[in-house]
Amino acid sequence: MAKSTNAFTCTACGASHKKWAGRCDACGAWNTIVEEAPLSQGPGRGLGAHKGRAVPLSSLQTTEAPPPRSLSGMEELDRVLGGGLVPGSAVLIGGDPGIGKSTLLLQGAAAFARRGANAVYISGEEASAQVRMRAQRLGLADAPVRLGSETNLRDILTTLDNERPDLAIIDSVQTLWSDQVEAAPGSVAQVRAAAHELVTFAKRKGVAIFLVGHVTKDGQIAGPRVVEHMVDTVIYFEGERGHQFRILRSVKNRFGPADEIGVFEMTGAGLAEVANPSALFLSERGQPVPGSAVFAGIEGTRPVLTEVQALVAPSTLASPRRTVVGLDSGRVSTILAVLEARCGIPFAGLDVFLNVAGGMRVSEPAADLAIAGALLSAREDSALPPEAVLFGEISLSGALRPVAQAENRLKEAQKLGFSQAILPDSQKVEGAGGMGVSRIADLTGFVGEVFGAG
Ligand SMILES: Nc1ncnc2c1ncn2[C@@H]1O[C@H](COP(=O)(O)OP(=O)(O)OP(=O)(O)O)[C@@H](O)[C@H]1O
Ligand SMILES: [Mg+2]
Ligand SMILES: [Zn+2]
Repeated sequence: MAKSTNAFTCTACGASHKKWAGRCDACGAWNTIVEEAPLSQGPGRGLGAHKGRAVPLSSLQTTEAPPPRSLSGMEELDRVLGGGLVPGSAVLIGGDPGIGKSTLLLQGAAAFARRGANAVYISGEEASAQVRMRAQRLGLADAPVRLGSETNLRDILTTLDNERPDLAIIDSVQTLWSDQVEAAPGSVAQVRAAAHELVTFAKRKGVAIFLVGHVTKDGQIAGPRVVEHMVDTVIYFEGERGHQFRILRSVKNRFGPADEIGVFEMTGAGLAEVANPSALFLSERGQPVPGSAVFAGIEGTRPVLTEVQALVAPSTLASPRRTVVGLDSGRVSTILAVLEARCGIPFAGLDVFLNVAGGMRVSEPAADLAIAGALLSAREDSALPPEAVLFGEISLSGALRPVAQAENRLKEAQKLGFSQAILPDSQKVEGAGGMGVSRIADLTGFVGEVFGAG
């Protein structure tokens, strides 16, 4: 066996590098590269070094019905999973420290267990007594969930193999260690090995596994991205500090649509489901103010209205501020450039602050028009019509492009009391359902129509 030399691994994305560098050129993160021994490859890596076993092949046809998905009854969770939990699937739940991952999964485990599933919760971070205290506070003490506190991967696998639960929660993957890997717990090698073993176990034995992964900033501990490719479903639990809202978002799902969101509110008694997120995200809206635009968006399969807020003020800085929260800052820069180049409206010498109310994150290009509307409204100090929602993608030429699911956006807007929509000229709408529609061909037309200039 060739002696394996030490390699350098990025703890954020798992890329391996030949030498140390300050910045990972695979994911762009700084100070995340650490020296780590690569996984041993076993004797004779090349083909033919020893003969493999022939794997039986089969056809695509099946007479078996797909196994029924199990529902937790927590609708926000079930939707993000793609319509319930698939037996034997592996789900990764990532999130910042303290965001509420353990709370969510304890509530989820209890919900599944109360519906008859055999659920096991293994904590590597907290003693069982601590988890029991949380269960007490959340009013879940009577749920038939069985608890374990362990970090040794081999012991966990043996336990799960004996118990054969329907689902197992492992909190967190970064605390696990396998005695077959010579690296510290939390290292890329350990986290990968543990995730690999658990995912393989899930498939073989039909046990659904939830892996908790902390999003780490310091680069000493491997982040959840390192195992994203191994699992069936990747879900992130997000929220702004200081906001009680939490958003569960699927970024990958082999069993359902990705980009689906579930919305929760963190309360003293745990996470409460928010069935109508649009109302929640717009709840802070008062009188019409300059700089506010309501975007009729789609998150996964669900329409969600959000408020884009802008503030534009003269800058004292040589390069003015561009502070963007909840939106893609590259997208915002593009829109600022298009406003300047195509409409002759400069933002040079002005500080720009943009955010989405309620701590929501919006990544749809359909939000372009609402972003432009908020920026223009703030700059002109003139409020947009308060009864109007906006959507439409802006191209580099300044033209507006149609977006998907216009009818669903309009329906949601109407449900929340809006009567007007500003949308692209080229947008096909089959039945606006009583909503008034203003059609706009390009940004210059938008400026003329809404702000009476152009
Ligand atoms: N007694 C309490 N009352 C209200 N909210 C609480 C209470 N205790 C905890 N919380 C909330 O729960 C959050 C922590 O939740 P939880 O432990 O599930 O998060 P986590 O993501 O698992 O964190 P960690 O990174 O520590 O594992 C706190 O940030 C707080 O908002
Ligand atoms: Mg936790
Ligand atoms: Zn990287």
